[in-house]
Amino acid sequence: MIIAVDGPSAAGKGTLARGLAQHFGYHFLDTGALYRMVGLKMLRAGADFSEAVRAAQIAQELDVNEFEDADLRTEAVGAAASRVAVIPEVRSALLQFQREFAKREPGAVLDGRDIGTVICPHADFKFFVTASAKARSLRRFKELLGLGIPVTLEGVTADIIARDARDASRATAPTKAADDAIVVDTTLMTAAEALKFALAAIETSTK
Ligand code: DC
Repeated sequence: MIIAVDGPSAAGKGTLARGLAQHFGYHFLDTGALYRMVGLKMLRAGADFSEAVRAAQIAQELDVNEFEDADLRTEAVGAAASRVAVIPEVRSALLQFQREFAKREPGAVLDGRDIGTVICPHADFKFFVTASAKARSLRRFKELLGLGIPVTLEGVTADIIARDARDASRATAPTKAADDAIVVDTTLMTAAEALKFALAAIETSTK
């Protein structure tokens, strides 16, 4: 069983994907963390984002045990992730790991931007989680403050708009709802309501 959860930044896809994984007892993969780790390593190496070969090399050598790094959640690393994510060689270096993860039994939930369109086009269920730019900026702002990261709402809003524009307009695997994805607009929903909505959609289509 594979559940794909895609959508723009801070729409609530991670929370929904984790909730679904917990509900069904499935494995969960935050695929954004893979791109964030490549972005973080490029930043720490002082590398230029146009160095595709270097970025792809880093992607190939990723160690999932390093994923607890606190810097991974910062906006700077989110922006770096979005920049390395446009490099086709980086995406192909990360593709196999994600596809193998998706095969885990009894099931897997993956969240990202291209899970339903490229990584797992045959996923059993696909959700595209979205929300207004204002709601997403406010959520990310509160989340970062909660993590003790000093930010302003204006700064977070500008970062989110720039990042989503880059993610949605890149040539390879842009953020896009699959034709058969169920759209979940969380602008006016709590996390619990979004999970309830998704579970109801799964139940209806498995009847
Ligand atoms: O989900 P996130 O905000 O942690 O993702 C960080 C960046 O990584 C995002 O701006 C685009 C990129 N990304 C991607 O291109 N494809 C994915 N499946 C997941 C993330």
